[in-house]
Amino acid sequence: MRKLIAYYSRTGRNRVLAEELRRTIGADIEEIVELKNRRGTWGYLTGGLDSLLWLKTKIKQYELNPSDYALTVIVAPIWFFRIPPPVRTYLTQNKANFRKLAFLSVCGRGDRNTKATAEIAKIIEEPVSAELMLDEEEFDQNKYRRKFAEFATRIISC
Ligand SMILES: Cc1cc2nc3c(=O)[nH]c(=O)nc-3n(C[C@H](O)[C@H](O)[C@H](O)COP(=O)(O)O)c2cc1C
Repeated sequence: MRKLIAYYSRTGRNRVLAEELRRTIGADIEEIVELKNRRGTWGYLTGGLDSLLWLKTKIKQYELNPSDYALTVIVAPIWFFRIPPPVRTYLTQNKANFRKLAFLSVCGRGDRNTKATAEIAKIIEEPVSAELMLDEEEFDQNKYRRKFAEFATRIISC
């Protein structure tokens, strides 16, 4: 079963997690690259505001097509209980292309962000097959191994 990981990361945690998932499940990987600069305090503020307003944004043209994969895993942070604008754009552009979709995130508050998964399901008009939201503390302190292994097993059998 071919698997694709599409990830977005502003400050690096979700990039590390996406790479770890790639090594664990053996998937192709693609970064969702936003053309707008989200660095620093200004990037935080504009990113937060755009996310809050449910806005989309311009992203770099990606190379891999989710329709070539049995499963796509989106790996991304959560911004104001929502998915970040570049992920919103990617999901909207590909909503007809996903065969199955799972969501993995490291974010400030972990699994208290269930609205983000609901937003994804609304965009793709399908339920999300599996989800895992880790909080930064458990991620930074390397306390997420068991949950991560369970998630990896779950998505392999999706
Ligand atoms: C504008 C903004 C809003 C955020 N809002 C939330 C939120 O609603 N819930 C949450 O759990 N984390 C929130 N966070 C924290 C990020 O999800 C967290 O720092 C994440 O680990 C960043 O991932 P990255 O290093 O891959 O960019 C927010 C971060 C930013 C920049």
